[in-house]
Amino acid sequence: MNDARKIMVLGAGDLGRRVFHELAHSDRPRQVQLVGRDGEAVLRAANLTRFCSIQRGHTPALSHALTDLTDVARTAERIASFAPDVLFLAASYQSWWVISTLEESAFKRVYAANYGPWLPMHLTPVMKAMEAVRLSGTEAVVVNAAYPDAVHPVLGAVGLSPDIGIGNVANNVPGITATVADELGRAAEDVEVRLVAHHYVSHRLSRHGDSGPAAMGLGVRVDGRDVTAELDVPGLLKRLPARYRRTGGMAGQAMTAASALSVLEPLADGRDAVVHAPGVDGALGGYPVAIESGKFRKLLPEGMTEEQGHAVNVSGQVQDGISEIRADGTVVFEPSSMAVMSAELGYECAEMTPAEAEGRALEIAERFEAYRVRTSG
Ligand SMILES: NC(=O)c1ccc[n+]([C@@H]2O[C@H](COP(=O)([O-])OP(=O)(O)OC[C@H]3O[C@@H](n4cnc5c(N)ncnc54)[C@H](OP(=O)(O)O)[C@@H]3O)[C@@H](O)[C@H]2O)c1
Repeated sequence: MNDARKIMVLGAGDLGRRVFHELAHSDRPRQVQLVGRDGEAVLRAANLTRFCSIQRGHTPALSHALTDLTDVARTAERIASFAPDVLFLAASYQSWWVISTLEESAFKRVYAANYGPWLPMHLTPVMKAMEAVRLSGTEAVVVNAAYPDAVHPVLGAVGLSPDIGIGNVANNVPGITATVADELGRAAEDVEVRLVAHHYVSHRLSRHGDSGPAAMGLGVRVDGRDVTAELDVPGLLKRLPARYRRTGGMAGQAMTAASALSVLEPLADGRDAVVHAPGVDGALGGYPVAIESGKFRKLLPEGMTEEQGHAVNVSGQVQDGISEIRADGTVVFEPSSMAVMSAELGYECAEMTPAEAEGRALEIAERFEAYRVRTSG
């Protein structure tokens, strides 16, 4: 196992466990460790994956460990002792699906705030994990699942951004690829999609089949030739929530796990790949990305400039409820999104610096639990 690559999954919730499980089902020389804070749950999840992996004849070395991200020194010690080549962050104080567990009408009202106001719930654990990364001295590539479109530019401003995100922009690319391939009577591998889109647009595409008031950038190549202008792109996208609809909710996180693996496996196995990812090298929003010798290079659809790509992502960010991320990492929230949070939860935050995120996260958690009680009838 000396040449085995080491992958640590930090955060043992639904997504972390799925990714750990998939990484364990490989014949590549790998050591994979699942790290969470609940000893009983982590032990059981790690053993379940280990037994499934043995049952199917795979050989990766699997282990588990405990830390609480609020204990930065302990997390740093965990990272240093495992010494991962790749570190996957899958921790959050409140995943996107938690609001869907509210009473239905309360869920619908809160959903209207969009995702941006919940940023502290993702930013805070990732910031703590990154402080631990720095303290540990690791040179692991850090890959993060928690709202990378916004978390990375904020943390980039204070020198703490993970290297790349996963999901969001990536989650619709296979659906678009399949739609185009079927329309043209081609195999999926003949079709190359390049999508520039913020989390807001990714979230909308599979539900509404369009980018709504936000912009997106989409290019399609077949056999290496740009065919975008020959396609009825709006018509094809409308098929995503129709004929090409897929299982959503927590079960649908199989798609997110696949998006995560599309990034993690090339990094772990030391091969180049073209993927889609949010938050690459601290960037705002999502892009097609070339992974080349463990480094990242943004790709753009034919004819799109860097500035246009950035503007597309900013338009999605605003619809998601974040007006601006300033150069010092201060986040300015959209008044219309915050008005929903204020009316429903009594939570109000016009601006937030990275240092204020933890206090804001604790406040949201308290207000959200009180709201759940108030609205549960
Ligand atoms: N990019 C995408 O496309 C995409 C798609 C889906 C999800 N996500 C994001 O991925 C993240 C994980 O999602 P999920 O559905 O797996 O959520 P989840 O099931 O709630 O898992 C989150 C995990 O974070 C852990 N955690 C929270 N605070 C911690 C702390 N102080 N120390 C250690 N661990 C802590 C929780 O531990 P406990 O189990 O002990 O509570 C839980 O296991 C979320 O940010 C979610 O929004 C991204």
